[in-house]
Parts: sequence; C-alpha cells; structure tokens
Amino acid sequence: MLCLTRPTDPAWVDNAVRHLDRVLADHAHCEMKAASNAMALAVRAAHLPGVVRQLVALAEEELRHFRQVLDELDRRGLSLGPPPVDPYAVTLRKLATSSADRRADRREGHASALVDRLLVASLIEARSCERFRLLAEALRERGPDDLRAFYEELLAAEARHFRTFVDLACEVNGGDEGRVRERLRELARLEGDLCAELASEPTVHG
Ligand SMILES: [Fe+2]
Ligand SMILES: [Fe+2]
Repeated sequence: MLCLTRPTDPAWVDNAVRHLDRVLADHAHCEMKAASNAMALAVRAAHLPGVVRQLVALAEEELRHFRQVLDELDRRGLSLGPPPVDPYAVTLRKLATSSADRRADRREGHASALVDRLLVASLIEARSCERFRLLAEALRERGPDDLRAFYEELLAAEARHFRTFVDLACEVNGGDEGRVRERLRELARLEGDLCAELASEPTVHG
C-alpha cells in the first residue's frame, strides 16, 4: 500500500460510488491543487534546478489530469463548483509541522521543512492511489465502465508520483535516504490516524 499505515474504511467506497457526482467534482479540484502545490514546491526548491524541473513536469501532468476530470464532468453535464474544504490535506500539513516542531534534532531549517512538504505530498499521492484503486474495483462490478478505466489509468500515475516525491525528498536532503524513510514512516502514522478519524465523505480524501 505504498507505505500507508491504515487502509481506507470500506464505508468510504460505498458512499463514494453512491455519490460519484460529488467525487468527480472534488477530484477535479484535487488535481488542480496538486498542480499548484507542485509549482509552490518548485518555488521553494529554486536553488535546486533538477528538482524544479521534475516538479514542473509533475505540475504539467496534474494539469492534464485536471483537464481530463473536467471532460468527465462535462460528459455528465456536471459543473465544477467552488472548491470544497479539504480537511485531510490541511490537517495533514498542520500535523507534520507540529510534529517537526517537537523533534529535538530539527537543525536544518529550510531543507527539512521542504523535505516534510515533499513527504506530505507523497502521502497524499499514496492515499489517492489507494482510493482510486478501491473506486476502480467497485466500478468494475457496478459501472460505469468508462469511469473504471479512467481511475485505473490515474491510480498508476499516483503511485508513480508517490515515488517521485520520496525521491525528491531524498535529493533535497542530500541523498540521506535512511533519514527520509524514517521521517516518512512517522508522517505515515500521523496520516493513518487522521484517515481513520475522518468521516467517510464522498470526496477523494474524505
Ligand atoms: Fe493527478
Ligand atoms: Fe498525482
């Protein structure tokens, strides 16, 4: 499960399949946020041109996903609507910051803040990958089939993005993979607890 410490509650899948309209609108916003987050990270990593290039490529891919989800909304006569609140991503970032503040060994300042932001992004990708897999499996039985194929394609991209963000975190951290993996495990525990607390809303991370 790409480092996730807790699986999604099966109640989420049932709710999501019953409210696909809401899932799709929320999903579109998630893709747009993923693109803008990758660009925000590129600005923070401006001193590392190789990292910037990879983040820009990722942002371009997320924008392509955004257009694809917009097409799915259009096909169904649905509108995008205003961005829904995403307590998952907002709370996960706050949990990461407060846990970093508690760490006695926090000396690197800017570099470790950027490592944390990259690892939080990797966990969001991992959870999206898991949720898209669950959706694709449910849609295989209940349809619609075109949406199943769409989510199967996207879950592979999310798994790749998870690995890209972890690799970038290692690069920013001077290649110290052991330390990055240790921090990823800590953040994954926080993510798992958060995921278990959230009500099973029909949103990508609900
Ligand atoms: Fe995406
Ligand atoms: Fe992604």
